[in-house]
Amino acid sequence: MDSKSIKKFSKWTKDGNYKAINWNDISDQIDKATWEKLTEQFWLDTRIPLSNDLSDWRTLDDDHKWVVGHVFGGLTLLDTLQSQDGMAALRKDVQTQHETAVLNNIQFMESVHAKSYSSIFSTLNTSNQIKEIFNWSDTEEFLQNKTKKIYSLYHNDGEPLKKKISSVFLETFLFYSGFFTPLWYLGHNKLPNVAEIIKLILRDESVHGTYIGYKFQVAFNQLNKREQDEIKGWMYNFLYDLYNNEVKYTHLLYDQVGWTDKVLTFIRYNANKALMNLGQEPLFDDTAADVDPIVMNGISTSTANHDFFSQVGNGYRLGRAESMKDSDYDIGRPKNKK
Ligand SMILES: [Fe+2]
Ligand SMILES: [Fe+2]
Repeated sequence: MDSKSIKKFSKWTKDGNYKAINWNDISDQIDKATWEKLTEQFWLDTRIPLSNDLSDWRTLDDDHKWVVGHVFGGLTLLDTLQSQDGMAALRKDVQTQHETAVLNNIQFMESVHAKSYSSIFSTLNTSNQIKEIFNWSDTEEFLQNKTKKIYSLYHNDGEPLKKKISSVFLETFLFYSGFFTPLWYLGHNKLPNVAEIIKLILRDESVHGTYIGYKFQVAFNQLNKREQDEIKGWMYNFLYDLYNNEVKYTHLLYDQVGWTDKVLTFIRYNANKALMNLGQEPLFDDTAADVDPIVMNGISTSTANHDFFSQVGNGYRLGRAESMKDSDYDIGRPKNKK
C-alpha cells in the first residue's frame, strides 16, 4: 500500500553491474552527518567501571533491586530485537548506499547495547538472579507483546514505512519505561556508572530515532494525500495500542515501588517525541515540565549530550590516534643497528 509512490533504489548500475559505494558522491548529506556522529560517539560497555556502583547497590532493598534487574531484562530483549531483526529489516528499504552503511553501524551498536546490560547483571546480580531475569524477559506477557508486535512489522516487507514507524516507536518510546529507573537513581546520585551506560545508550537511541524518523519523512513526503492520511491513521492507532500495553507493563514493574504515575508521565512525554521524530503532531498533553525533575536532571547532568549534532560527552573519550613510525618497530633492537 504505502510503498507504491516511493522511488526505488538499486545497488546495481544501469548496465547491470554491482556498484561500489562512493563517499565522495553523497546524495543525502544526512547519511554522512549521521555516520560521523555515530562513529564519533562510539563506546564499549567494558570501559565503564561498573563495580564502583556496588556500594550503592547494597543500600537498595529487595523490591528496588528487583525493579532494576527486571527493567534491564526488558531492555535487553528490545535491544536484541533491534540488533537481530530491526536494522536488517530497515536495510531492505534503503534509498542510498550510505544509508546501508549507517544502518550497519547502528546494528553493531544495538549488539553493544544488548551486551552492556549483561555487564551490569554480572556486576550486580548473582547467577541465579541472572537466570531468573532472563527467564522473566523470555516469558513476560506485556514485554513479549510489544516485542512480537514490532517483530511482525519488521518482517512485513510490503510496508516499509510501517517498519520505520515501528523502529522509531521502539527506540524513542518503548525504551523509556526502562530508562526511567537508572535516570531516577542518577538524579539521586546513585548507581552513576550504571547510569553512564544507560546515558550512552540513550544518546545512541536519540540519533537512531532522529535518523530513522528523518528517513521516514523523506519517504512519507513522496506519498499522495490519501496515502499519507492512511499511514497517519495507522500510526496513531498503533501508538495508542502500544501505549495501552505499556501502561500494563509499567504497573507490573513499578507498582511495588510506587513510581508508576511518574513513569507513565515520562513515557507519554517520550511518545510525543517519537511522533516528533516522524514529523507528526503530539498525541498526549504531557511536556518536559510534567516529567519528574529528578529524572530530567538525570538526563541532563554530567557527560552525555543528547542533541543530534553534539560532541562526545566529557566523561568518555576515545584515545587519540597517532601515525606509526618505523622506529616504533625498534623494540629491543640496539639503537645503532637499524
Ligand atoms: Fe539500542
Ligand atoms: Fe537504536
